[in-house]
Amino acid sequence: MAKIKILALGDVVGACGVQYLSGGKLRRMRDTLGAQMVIVNGENSAVGNALSPDSAEALFEAGADVITGGNHTLKKKQVYDYLDNHNMAIRPANYPADAPGDGYCIADCMGWRVLVINLLGTTFMDSLDSPFKVADSILQRNAGRYDVCLVDIHAEATSEKLCLARYLDGRVGAVFGTHTHVQTADACVLKGGTGYITDLGMTGSGAGVLGVKTECIIHKFTVRTPVYFEPAEGEAAAHGALFTLDTSTGLCTEAVAVSF
Ligand SMILES: [Fe+2]
Repeated sequence: MAKIKILALGDVVGACGVQYLSGGKLRRMRDTLGAQMVIVNGENSAVGNALSPDSAEALFEAGADVITGGNHTLKKKQVYDYLDNHNMAIRPANYPADAPGDGYCIADCMGWRVLVINLLGTTFMDSLDSPFKVADSILQRNAGRYDVCLVDIHAEATSEKLCLARYLDGRVGAVFGTHTHVQTADACVLKGGTGYITDLGMTGSGAGVLGVKTECIIHKFTVRTPVYFEPAEGEAAAHGALFTLDTSTGLCTEAVAVSF
């Protein structure tokens, strides 16, 4: 029975978040934790809450093996060709088929085939196809083509994230939530053997509000006129979860929240 450890990191916010992982820090952390693969949610890693070719390249350079996304991934047209040409950078799979890029990928982890699926929640978010049905269809289409599967559900509602995890329990190795930027204290292995955490948290500055300068958010709540979200600076940290997966069953034996 071979076990692999996969580290998943929550939404990287702005240059602060990217820089925090760069310069060998993520690679050192990966070694310290014994992780053989790293999945990073990168949808906020570029200026203006988006993914850009530069921010994606910087995350791969820092040590990410797969970059997942969310509601901001397709915000900037500059990233469309990049997504079409880099299959380890994915966007939510429940976008219409004509959208650029792909919603899942199969990464190599020491010879094991790791299917990573990215989904967007539909509660309080864009009205896309059901993440539940899209997950079913991807799993069915790729049956026999992977050893382990992890799902990034980028969603607002905690209920939708937990419900998807219970829906997929026993069928995938792990389901982790992203988007709300605050790490939740519920990392666990569900009854059927699927590792789970409602939200990984974020990677970036903790000095503001969810990675954005406090003044911008105070303006938004008090004046209610549009405001440019300037990224917060300083006091950076990375939050995520480490999943230990049994390659013979594809299921999870341990799920722990990590921060560094
Ligand atoms: Fe998001």
